Amino acid sequence: DVRAVLNRVYTADMPDLRDIEYLLSLEDADQIDELYKFADNVRREQVGDGVLLRGIVEFSNYCRNTCAYCGLNKYNKQIRRYRMAHDEIMACLDKIVSCNTKTVVLQSGEEDELDAAWLQDLLFKIKDKHDIAVTLSLGERSDQEFEMWRNAGADRYLLKIETSDKQLYEKLHPEMSFDRRVECLRKLGSMGYQLGSGCMVGLKGQTTASLARDVQFFVREKIAMIGIGPFIPHSQTECANHACGDVELVCKMTAVTRIATKNTHMPATTALGSLGNGDMRLKALACGANVLMPNFTPVEYKKLYEIYPGKRCVNEPTGACSGCMEKMVKSIGRYVDWARGDTLKSYN
Ligand code: 5AD
Repeated sequence: DVRAVLNRVYTADMPDLRDIEYLLSLEDADQIDELYKFADNVRREQVGDGVLLRGIVEFSNYCRNTCAYCGLNKYNKQIRRYRMAHDEIMACLDKIVSCNTKTVVLQSGEEDELDAAWLQDLLFKIKDKHDIAVTLSLGERSDQEFEMWRNAGADRYLLKIETSDKQLYEKLHPEMSFDRRVECLRKLGSMGYQLGSGCMVGLKGQTTASLARDVQFFVREKIAMIGIGPFIPHSQTECANHACGDVELVCKMTAVTRIATKNTHMPATTALGSLGNGDMRLKALACGANVLMPNFTPVEYKKLYEIYPGKRCVNEPTGACSGCMEKMVKSIGRYVDWARGDTLKSYN
């Protein structure tokens, strides 16, 4: 029965593929509820009732890649490309800090033009001025660059695997290699970066079995932060006509991933908050998630960072999310944990 499977997934070092698949395939409302309650208990036991905030700044939407699902793919000539200047980014940092947030995620497309020394300089400026954890989310780069930025003070790196199914990965990322992506993650881990990754749910060609393997991947690679979001079709992509990821399946993935990975930090993703009625991030927070990511990108740029359409609160002024999120969190009987929220994994 469900209870026995839940216990097995929770206690196993590497949960069984069939057990994970079984949980992801639950249809009965009471059984799904049992899954969510179990995940919520694991979340409380492992990371507590605090919800961590990570301020995100999307500083450039240039991208060299051709991902079949993403609106920032280089073939999309309909969007205006931008790259923020140091001063603009530093102004966002001031806002983040004034909202009491202790982590910033610096995200961009996978830029060919990104100058490693430019970013190094920015890291120096940030670390000099603020006591804040910095997460980089810039895609695959050379070892030298990873090393340089680590030495300049970068604490964490977010590199989503998107899917751990090599065949599907390489179909959706025509010019990329699955093995290279995994290699980057491992390299980053060995350099002492706290590792973030994640996947999408509802990709064209994705099966329950491939989602189950994503969960195993997160366990195997000792990922410390895991973001799981629904696929949302974008008109300027090859997947324009494919359906949105299923909100319930995203929540089941969140729940199973929490149970299997135990003490990870898991955001209720903005993509999830952009689908369905009401704010589905509340649902994710109730079945395993413990992180929210307020957006601090200036409005004029935020609109241009269109990975998928209909992004939540895209017209809200910069930083407005912060106060809103505090209310959200209180409304479900939780509280904002104003800590940095470093990894709870040990790597030895
Ligand atoms: N729908 C939902 N999420 C997407 N991402 C990229 N394209 C889409 C899409 N069409 C996610 C990926 C990426 C993150 C920045 O946004 O997981 O890593």
